[in-house]
Amino acid sequence: MASIGKSIETASDFLKKGQLVAIPTETVYGLAANALDSTAVAGVFDAKNRPVFDPLIVHTYSVIKAYDYVKSIPEPLLKLANAFWPGPLTLLLEKKALVPDLVTSGLDRVAIRVPNHALTLDLLKSIDFPLAAPSANPFGYVSPTTPEHVNKQLGDKVAYILDGGNCEVGIESTIVGMEENKVCVYRLGGLAIEEIEKTVGKVKLKINSSSNPTAPGQLKSHYAPMKQLILGNVKENLKLYKNAAVIYFGEKDFESTHADYNLSPTKNLKEAAANLFSALRIMDESKADVILCELLPEEGLARAINDRLKRASVK
Ligand code: TXA
Ligand code: MG
Repeated sequence: MASIGKSIETASDFLKKGQLVAIPTETVYGLAANALDSTAVAGVFDAKNRPVFDPLIVHTYSVIKAYDYVKSIPEPLLKLANAFWPGPLTLLLEKKALVPDLVTSGLDRVAIRVPNHALTLDLLKSIDFPLAAPSANPFGYVSPTTPEHVNKQLGDKVAYILDGGNCEVGIESTIVGMEENKVCVYRLGGLAIEEIEKTVGKVKLKINSSSNPTAPGQLKSHYAPMKQLILGNVKENLKLYKNAAVIYFGEKDFESTHADYNLSPTKNLKEAAANLFSALRIMDESKADVILCELLPEEGLARAINDRLKRASVK
């Protein structure tokens, strides 16, 4: 098991030595390494068992600092950066040569994000390199939203877990870039499309290219618990699956099962997003054979929640 604490100094010492540190962000915990050091970055792929064709997000602390790593920021994306950084937004931008190819899996664009977490922003300011950090979970499994989640699965692979409490947003960042002068969204996430469109107008959704492994987070099966997750009418499915755990939203309209989890009794989407990955983990650890859940009405953050549920349900 890793040591867990709130010391920025300890975290930065390990990172400077090329070791891995789990860092808190508002979305999910990240598995961080010096983004400018290929050897350290290779350690991230290794610890996660992540295929090297799946590139990493580079974290820094300000828009100005981002220019150290990218050639330019096209105007609509700059607008988004100014409006939503620090926050659950990742931008795909043309990289400078100092960003190792391993970080971007050989692509010309690097994914950049300024996370909204005080501890991690202080950490980023205390070191002279940015941090490459994917979600701190084994490849394909549910993302971690607490230090304990990280410790359980990757505890023997990280030097230190920087404890920033529970993640407030609970779902990964929204990934945005440009193609042919159009703003494109590649992964639904903690920043709702509606918010992005208020700033830059209509965007193009490019979120379903699961056949293209270089497309962000879009492998068809991802974020998946070990138990089978079955989507659809819970009441009906409970007739078919006697020993089921249930994840639900709002009012409870089914007979109690031995394990169930309400994402948000008041139907608050922010709360539901923040609880989603914990719910999947807790139901995964229950004695049920399968997990049942219904998709939410498609609006705002519910779209990102549904995206995660759909991918989690593919085996
Ligand atoms: O909220 C988040 O984004 C969290 C926290 C830790 O910042 N990070 C995260 O990282 O979710 P990860 O590695 O689990 O997902 C990042 C996604 C991957 O699916 C990857 O394919 C995509 O971003 N990505 C990274 N760099 C890219 C690039 N240069 N071009 C296209 N997609 C990229
Ligand atoms: Mg991930």
